[in-house]
Amino acid sequence: MIIQSAKNILGSLRLPGDKSISHRYAMLAAIASGTTKLGNFSSGADCASTLGCVQQLGCTVRKNTDGVLEIDGRERLQQPSASLDCGNSGSTMRMLSGILAGQDFACDLHGDESLSRRPMARIMTPLRQMGAEISASANDRPPLHIHGGKLRGIEYKTPMASAQVKSAVLFAGLFADGETTVEEPHRTRDHTEQALRAFGVELSRSRNRITVAGGQRLSAINAAVPGDISSAAFFLCAAAMFPDSNLVIDNLLLNPTRASLLDVLKIMGAGVSVINLEEHHGELVGTVKVQHGKLKGTTIEGAQSVALIDELPVLAAIAPYTRDGIEIRDAKELRVKESDRIALVARNLRAMGAQCEEREDGLRVPGSQKLHGAEIDSGGDHRIAMAFAVAALRAEGETAIHGAESANISFPEFFQMLESVVER
Ligand code: S3P
Repeated sequence: MIIQSAKNILGSLRLPGDKSISHRYAMLAAIASGTTKLGNFSSGADCASTLGCVQQLGCTVRKNTDGVLEIDGRERLQQPSASLDCGNSGSTMRMLSGILAGQDFACDLHGDESLSRRPMARIMTPLRQMGAEISASANDRPPLHIHGGKLRGIEYKTPMASAQVKSAVLFAGLFADGETTVEEPHRTRDHTEQALRAFGVELSRSRNRITVAGGQRLSAINAAVPGDISSAAFFLCAAAMFPDSNLVIDNLLLNPTRASLLDVLKIMGAGVSVINLEEHHGELVGTVKVQHGKLKGTTIEGAQSVALIDELPVLAAIAPYTRDGIEIRDAKELRVKESDRIALVARNLRAMGAQCEEREDGLRVPGSQKLHGAEIDSGGDHRIAMAFAVAALRAEGETAIHGAESANISFPEFFQMLESVVER
């Protein structure tokens, strides 16, 4: 994909449904009684992987004439006849493992080359403590073999802040005797908690501890998935870079555990406003307007790095255009995402002529730099491809994004929507 530099970002957008919420609604629909109806379901390949797995487990999935997805839940999932294909999706493999740990059958899960490199010990440890038998390849990498069955509730402190691990344990907790409690070091996205409540499950939270009692019944829901804020991040950051920009995104997910990007853009000096806030199934949804303000720069660390984990690549990619630059710390998890995002961001920034300092747990990107177009290696990672398409808009000359099709993983419409708001 060739990206030419741009003069401005102007217009309004409405985005496909949030990936994190789509995964969770589809998985819970599979084990709920009745038919769940989901409007604006994520159009990305990752959520299609989850739907494929749900079908392999015996659930009927169909799209009705209005484009609404219907998933028939089952009292008992069916043993799949082949290995469950999780594609590129860590969320599918890790969160679904929690549900599979509680099923009375054995099954396998596999993924593509990138997913096959990602660590699974983080879910294997707590699910084994609950009583599931799980094995993996060397170094606890996929494929996984899970023999589920009767589980017991546990208290589990997650060693790393990961919403996927929290979700896997809470999902397994639905099938466990007694109560299951997860405590996390920093608060991660709480869509699992909101979704469980929406499907009729009672949970309690005290600070960073969430408890669920096993044996609760789930009932189907009718929901429209709010627009994906991690997809919106690319446009919001693009708009924040141009002096005359004005971008409106409506129907956007604004759950406080996901919307920290708005705070960071505001702190850096962008004009950000939010209107029409509503709550749907526990999720805040609203309209966001972003205009340029001279972007200063900032440091992102601690709990903020956790909250912004999927937005860090695009923030790093626009950092050279800020006045003082951006420093990212406490983000070691970026190294075990779909790619080593710290290394790839640093390599691609340098390819565009930027200076940057790569660290074990983050990056320091100085501000007030001029970038030139370059050959970008996405490493097959959707967020790297999209982040550098944004950086390319203010670079001199044209940029070629190699592996741009990886955007399909979360956001197939990305390049087309980007063109619709770019002025040249
Ligand atoms: C996700 C959690 C995060 C995030 C991923 C989606 C989720 O991963 O990076 O894109 O939907 O729970 P971790 O749980 O590994 O931090």
